[in-house]
Amino acid sequence: MRQTDLQNDALPAPPCIMVIFGAAGDLAKRKLFPALYYLSMANQLPEQFAILGVSREDFNSETYRELMNTESRAHLDGDYSRDVWERLVQCCHYLQGDFRDSETYQALLKKLGELDEQCGTSGNYLFYMATPPAFFGDIAVQISGAGLADEQDGCWRRLVIEKPFGHDLQSARELNKTLLHEFEERQLYRIDHYLGKETVQNFFAFRFANGVIEPIWNRRYVDHVQITVAEPLGVENRASYYETAGALRDMIPNHLLAVLAIIAMEPPISFDADEIRDEQAKVLRAIQPLTPEEVLTHTVRGQYDSGVMPDGTHVPAYRQEPGVAADSQTETFVALRLMIDSWRWAGVPFYLRTGKRLPGRFTEVMVQYKHAPNAAFKRSILKGQPVEPNVMVLRIQPREGISLGINAKVPGQAMQLSPVEMDFSYDDYFGHGPSTGYETLIYDCMQGDPTLFKRADIIETAWQLMEPVLDVWRALPPRDFPNYTAGDWGPAAADELLQHDGRSWRACTAGACARKTTRG
Ligand code: BG6
Repeated sequence: MRQTDLQNDALPAPPCIMVIFGAAGDLAKRKLFPALYYLSMANQLPEQFAILGVSREDFNSETYRELMNTESRAHLDGDYSRDVWERLVQCCHYLQGDFRDSETYQALLKKLGELDEQCGTSGNYLFYMATPPAFFGDIAVQISGAGLADEQDGCWRRLVIEKPFGHDLQSARELNKTLLHEFEERQLYRIDHYLGKETVQNFFAFRFANGVIEPIWNRRYVDHVQITVAEPLGVENRASYYETAGALRDMIPNHLLAVLAIIAMEPPISFDADEIRDEQAKVLRAIQPLTPEEVLTHTVRGQYDSGVMPDGTHVPAYRQEPGVAADSQTETFVALRLMIDSWRWAGVPFYLRTGKRLPGRFTEVMVQYKHAPNAAFKRSILKGQPVEPNVMVLRIQPREGISLGINAKVPGQAMQLSPVEMDFSYDDYFGHGPSTGYETLIYDCMQGDPTLFKRADIIETAWQLMEPVLDVWRALPPRDFPNYTAGDWGPAAADELLQHDGRSWRACTAGACARKTTRG
């Protein structure tokens, strides 16, 4: 049954003002405004709603609306409703100010009071930090200093903190300390847009709403798990950030470990935010920290050289990108082998890889099952090939869906086997709705549901796991960079990481079934 007419019947969020710090920046223009527009299209924004942009740029409410019209509207996808967009733009107001100046916050206090009067927003404020991370702590202190963190007379005040949340364990701890000095934990919403992706949220449904999955989701059946986030893009115009971050900090402690935690967590006893986050925290704590020796053998870093992408485009080396040092040692690729010390996962490696300038955009989790005891199917029947193990692939993007690789008999007189795929694709069942991944997260924050946001302990545990890697990598700078060609699947060492265990990376493909055998 195709279910394109399924409606999401979430109610509109409660009245509020969304204050966006860094309102003229890329994130606001490319993601936040389109997300608000999609929420509005779905009738999930409150009637009594206002957006207050704050930044140092010289705008007023009128010119800020023009900016949104010229620079944000272009990022909308799907059906365009002029009415909905214009209503949203009319909700926008602007305040110019320096994030570190207390006068900005006095002006903010005044402006918010006026907007409450004008729009009926009841003193509920969602503060969104879409600024460079260096401002996060200062903004929180200033908001609180102006009395804007106090929840009086039944109103709520919430703070959304973008990534990167710190650049190592110590800085993450310091930021948490600052935030928790000014706000209660329940007011803090540390965002990871991967948790806003429908397909990632579907992992909960897939694992815990299907009686058939959980019994085979453990070390008795699973051989290993691969999590891949491959991107064809290079560093684009983000060198100043990326040079100090690198692929490890940029992707692993946040997005990839968030995915791993949902894949590997124990079933929660309820869908209460803390029940879910407790289980995620537990599984992260169960990951064995790498020893310095293991960092050498269980991690791989790479940097792209110039090359030709699959579409034929010639692209420069990372070191030739604008803003990148000619001798940069920043990694643009990372692969890791992690082990989870738990009853469920003992002995099952989790291989993680992510990189820029890889051959395509593939974000997926592959769960490879153990080989069937296939004594009955002799190699001759398989034309010399061993029987393929079953493989479950959860595709986060593109072609969002889930497939299960099974072995089938090729029609004909010979007993010949071929791997085939059972494939569920979101589009087939639910159609394709435009989304930035931020809609659910903004909506949940307005509703006061922190389930998909990170708690302080989760963030710190993730950084703790990265510490040994960062330490060893710092002590031993790479000597072979650049070590992979743009358009390839990363350095050879990434393949060797799995070959050493008698395994190999899944060949990600855009098509449904990678291998087809003709009738035999
Ligand atoms: C961001 C990283 O958090 O996630 C980027 O900073 C990366 O470097 C991006 O490209 C990937 O997100 P998505 O949603 O495109 O997979």
